[in-house]
Amino acid sequence: MADDWTELYRPKRLADVVGNPKAINELRQWALSWEEGRPERRAVVLMGPPGVGKTSAALALANEFNWGLVEMNASDQRNADAIKRVALRGSRSETFTDEGEFLSSKDGRRKLIVLDEADNIFGREDSGGIPAIAELVANTQQPVVLIVNDFYELSRKSAAIKNGTLQLKLSRVQAGTMRNVLRRIALDQGLEVPQRVFETIIENSNGDMRAAIRDLQAVAEGNVEMGEDDAFVLESRMSVKSMYDLMRDVLHEGDSTRARRTQMNVDEPPEQVMMWLDENVPLEYRDPEDLWRAYEHLSRADIFLARATRRQYFGLWAYATDHNIVGVCSAKSRPSRGWVQYRFPSYIMKMSRSKAYRAMRKGIAYKISAYTHTSTRRSAQDVLPYLTELFRADREFRLAMISAMRLTIEEVAFLLDKKVDAAEVKQLMQEAERSRATGEKAAASPPQRAPEEEKKERRPEPKGKQASLFEY
Ligand SMILES: Nc1ncnc2c1ncn2[C@@H]1O[C@H](COP(=O)(O)OP(=O)(O)OP(=O)(O)O)[C@@H](O)[C@H]1O
Ligand SMILES: [Mg+2]
Repeated sequence: MADDWTELYRPKRLADVVGNPKAINELRQWALSWEEGRPERRAVVLMGPPGVGKTSAALALANEFNWGLVEMNASDQRNADAIKRVALRGSRSETFTDEGEFLSSKDGRRKLIVLDEADNIFGREDSGGIPAIAELVANTQQPVVLIVNDFYELSRKSAAIKNGTLQLKLSRVQAGTMRNVLRRIALDQGLEVPQRVFETIIENSNGDMRAAIRDLQAVAEGNVEMGEDDAFVLESRMSVKSMYDLMRDVLHEGDSTRARRTQMNVDEPPEQVMMWLDENVPLEYRDPEDLWRAYEHLSRADIFLARATRRQYFGLWAYATDHNIVGVCSAKSRPSRGWVQYRFPSYIMKMSRSKAYRAMRKGIAYKISAYTHTSTRRSAQDVLPYLTELFRADREFRLAMISAMRLTIEEVAFLLDKKVDAAEVKQLMQEAERSRATGEKAAASPPQRAPEEEKKERRPEPKGKQASLFEY
């Protein structure tokens, strides 16, 4: 179980790279043209969101064509020189080791040069990375693959790169395709995975194959047997995990650029981030001045969030995010020491614990509102508390209310603050049933109709009639 499944199941051949058949095929054609000589476009740009198989496609390509491989991570500082050293000296007959050491042997294989995360290098204008790559693209003797998340920056800064490369776009992997891969892995691992768990993973992954495989492994390692319930646990656990990462980056690491990058990967709305920070800032920040500054930023974030909602202009979220992440991160005057256990926001916890309670309350309020022609809000706030008291205190009222509003047993239990299977509740329901059957109170009780039809049909009737409930 210790293996990383994303590595274990990394595609070995281009055919194993799922999704994006057109781009993968073009990549294969490009490689074939290298076999026949040097093609016009000597570099390919693979672009697309994280985890869709860009790196995998490049590696599979080298493997399939039996090419050597020179992988360079462009976020590596030493890149500009290294790129030149490796790329421009290679040729069919002269080549270099996989570590980039120059070799002048005759039997050198063709080498695929993979510049991963090439957009990082383009961000740093002073690094000389852009000219180096432009030169590489123009003069390379070896096939080059540039991997980027976003081609825009790269193309904007260098026309040579833009015009001299073949650009292939890999899109997010589709749900059906993803399901097949996950099923295959589960089968291979001998796992029984309920459908809903698959669906939750797929939905959460947002087309990121790596994330999906990772989550499947996480589920598998967390539980020997997987129940349908895991899907729910999984939903919260997955987002929680990345939120903890974000908290560490914002509150502890003190590197706002990095925190911002993490935030983009967390993919939670700024309101959630704000609540998490609100909960955790005091655990990490001890200096009152730091705390003050951090909360100042959170309160500003809150203002932007409110404005975004009010105006329905979600562009304002960007400002909330900057206050949340950069603001709170920079509010700290000294680096923090020690290890802090971050907490899930108690506000969200309370709200989710009270979810069933609130839903029930709302359901009853809805019935009251239909009955009394009051808004559900007013019913919940102003009417329900009194009715609840009356309901508990007066037997006749209880029976009338049950029958008039067609309260369910759950609602009755809720009003009495008893369990649904409590003897008292059952007895009361039977009693209500009996009195309905015998028509004991028929004359005095309001007609027993569902709230919906009641609302429609009652409208033309005189107002006095619906007050009958309160005559008890
Ligand atoms: N199209 C795919 N087909 C099969 N497996 C995939 C695919 N895409 C991703 N994976 C799985 O996810 C892992 C990571 O994929 P990969 O490194 O190719 O993503 P990437 O597109 O390079 O992402 P990033 O932009 O984050 O570097 C692979 O090892 C593989 O297990
Ligand atoms: Mg990659």
